[in-house]
Amino acid sequence: MTNTLTMNDFRLTLGSTELKPLVLGGMGVNISTKDLALEVARLGGIGHVSDAMLPEVADRLFHTGFTAAKAKASKAFAGLGSKLGMTFDIQAVASATRRYVEDVMSAKKGEGLVFINVMEKLCMNDALSTLKARLTAALDGGIDGISLSAGLHTSSFAMMADHPRFHDAKLGIVVSSARALNIFLRRTAKTGRLPDFVVVEGPLAGGHLGFGLTSWAESNLGTIVDEVLDFLKAQKLSIPVIAGGGVFTGTDGVRLLQRGCAGVQVATRFTVAKESGLPHDVKQRYFNAEAADVVVNGISPTGYPMRMLQQSPAIGSNVKPQCEAYGYLLERGDCSYLKSYREAVEANPDDKAPSIEGKTCLCYQMRNYKLWTCGATTSRLKETSVRLPDGTWYEPPAEHIVNDYLHSKNDEILLPEVPASVESSAAHEGGPLAAS
Ligand SMILES: Cc1cc2nc3c(=O)[nH]c(=O)nc-3n(C[C@H](O)[C@H](O)[C@H](O)COP(=O)(O)O)c2cc1C
Repeated sequence: MTNTLTMNDFRLTLGSTELKPLVLGGMGVNISTKDLALEVARLGGIGHVSDAMLPEVADRLFHTGFTAAKAKASKAFAGLGSKLGMTFDIQAVASATRRYVEDVMSAKKGEGLVFINVMEKLCMNDALSTLKARLTAALDGGIDGISLSAGLHTSSFAMMADHPRFHDAKLGIVVSSARALNIFLRRTAKTGRLPDFVVVEGPLAGGHLGFGLTSWAESNLGTIVDEVLDFLKAQKLSIPVIAGGGVFTGTDGVRLLQRGCAGVQVATRFTVAKESGLPHDVKQRYFNAEAADVVVNGISPTGYPMRMLQQSPAIGSNVKPQCEAYGYLLERGDCSYLKSYREAVEANPDDKAPSIEGKTCLCYQMRNYKLWTCGATTSRLKETSVRLPDGTWYEPPAEHIVNDYLHSKNDEILLPEVPASVESSAAHEGGPLAAS
């Protein structure tokens, strides 16, 4: 069916701020980079950075020493025993977050907003104190808004309630059902503050999924959106709903806006953008992926199903647990990868490289871009760009992707124009197509 409306015919209104209805979802660890988020904000939408493993990210960006200091302080917990008592330095966590957010916000231009995505399942062996430090430091750093996801902590709003920016920053949550939204609203009612927006994430999204390992396949974004919209209407609540997961063309976005959503959240198309934090070779893997390469499995120690490319080096990897340096997933001294590794070593004490099938060391693998998480539409990325003379795919600038979402009609995707300098340098690489 033809649909000649564009996403740019709609607006996302958050309080008194009017925005383009396009939200770049958070992609940790540093896949939704500062540059990516800032471009989306410059063009009038909302760009998310991610707070996943920010002390480590800060070390790489600013040459700070948060990770080395933590590894040193955690020496006593080396080995495979319980890590109960191993803690993050709360001041350091706050300082890394503040420094990172200040750096992002000081470079912001344009009418859009920059939010930070905070995954609450990153318990850091002391869920409440570390989460409070991360949230309040992001507010201190001047972030425009926060979206709370993955393991929604129902006391998160209360943790920020004393902060002077509690009412001025935009605070929202990511849910995958009306039920989860209802629970969150009930538990946070005492703070007297409603979320400023709700992201409804469907089963086709990248990263962790708020569904069961197999039940995701029976769910559908449109149905969940309708349930959430009906629930809000019944409660007489006017909270903008932003829908995400599988929105591949601007027209996909228009359909959700016509359904009653205020905006759409997207990520997969930006994984291959020039400004994405994924290494060049990994972006090429995403472009070349076929539908059968995109799998949902249970290897994440968070307990949530996760979508990824089946070629991810993290799958089946038996790297030693890296808790001394990282340990972002530790909860009461343990993590399910640490447990699996310990069991494998106990079962085969002489095996120097025990096989760890069911889980992965998520901190290490995400930090090293070896777990290639992606959305269900990844195999369509090749429709969004062009091959260069050396056979590689051109990584489009974020600006092109934003404009394509905002202005395309009838499910069309506008291909990027390749600058002559990129074309000619690819030709000189002498790749497979150059030779033919
Ligand atoms: C590579 C990648 C990493 C992601 N990481 C996170 C994350 O750290 N936290 C989160 O809440 N969502 C994460 N997501 C989900 C996105 O923010 C977004 O809501 C979703 O993927 C949108 O669907 P789409 O990818 O089909 O456009 C990730 C998605 C991708 C593709």
